[in-house]
Amino acid sequence: MVKEQCEGGSSTTSVSSSIFCFTYANGRRYHADRFHRADYFMPNDDSEQERLDLYHHIFLTLLGGKLGTAPLDNPQRVLDVGTGTGIWAIDFADENPQAEVIGTDVSPIQPSWVPPNLKFEIDDMEEDWTHPDNYFDYIHMRSLSGAFQHWDAILAQAYKKTAPGGYVEFQDYGCEVFTSDGTMLMGESSEHPIGTYFYHVMGAANRAGRPLIIARGMRDRLIRAGFVNVVERTAIWPLGPWPKDKHLKELGKWGRMGALESLIPFATLLLTREGWTLEQIQDLCDSVRKAHDKGRYYCHGWFVYGQKPKAEEIPL
Ligand SMILES: C[S@@+](CC[C@H](N)C(=O)[O-])C[C@H]1O[C@@H](n2cnc3c(N)ncnc32)[C@H](O)[C@@H]1O
Repeated sequence: MVKEQCEGGSSTTSVSSSIFCFTYANGRRYHADRFHRADYFMPNDDSEQERLDLYHHIFLTLLGGKLGTAPLDNPQRVLDVGTGTGIWAIDFADENPQAEVIGTDVSPIQPSWVPPNLKFEIDDMEEDWTHPDNYFDYIHMRSLSGAFQHWDAILAQAYKKTAPGGYVEFQDYGCEVFTSDGTMLMGESSEHPIGTYFYHVMGAANRAGRPLIIARGMRDRLIRAGFVNVVERTAIWPLGPWPKDKHLKELGKWGRMGALESLIPFATLLLTREGWTLEQIQDLCDSVRKAHDKGRYYCHGWFVYGQKPKAEEIPL
């Protein structure tokens, strides 16, 4: 059952208040139907916001406390696409008081007390971006797999809006899970319910036109979009505290928590749309939970950035 309900404003009085007319389904809250073209399948309620903040902590731990990998030099204008709770944008604005930072999202779930050099805009980034061309020194996109249908179109807009010499950076979890011997888990298997889970959820995301495996092809996409000096890095992201290495063990504790908390939200809208009942989804997720601590699993964090050629290098 999907229904719309407005919070903090009347949908009939102004366009801007319609962003608070959230959609509800299966006990979860999703972005407003006003952005019906942005068919994002993850919720935006309190428990999703906690999950996003947990992932922020994991990304920071992966990067040794850094917010990104691009070699920035005193950026003045920064865009965080799909900012979520705005936690990355807040940290970035704090660390870079000289920069004007903008975070965009279809969901108005950002706090109102933020650094003075940060503002949030509620917009569908699958539509035309309204910012000036050649404007941003840094465009940041994190955890957006499954968000967009046409990534090449998103990157074409990012290219247009990046200032010559500026950077675009993409950070994500690779939604491919491996056992500690390097075997990828994908496909129905009673031995590895994790593979079964991903087989169903990724299949449904593909059929919905919003694939989850995006990170692996991002380097080539950035090059195709015209970016140069493209650098791709991956980092081991353990999904349990099994590694001996102290840093990886710590990461694995958070990785486990994040993975288990992601099972239900990733599966719910995608699979109920394909006719699954909530009980079937619960059973699928329970089987993953049961199997999870019996094995040693990991995925990868992906960090890819590219630079828009400087004005004198742009081909005429
Ligand atoms: C997994 S969250 C990541 C949030 C944030 N980037 C982070 O790393 O904490 C993905 C975000 O993308 C937003 N999103 C999805 N589709 C979008 C669209 N078409 N335009 C703008 N934001 C979108 C969602 O609302 C959600 O907040």
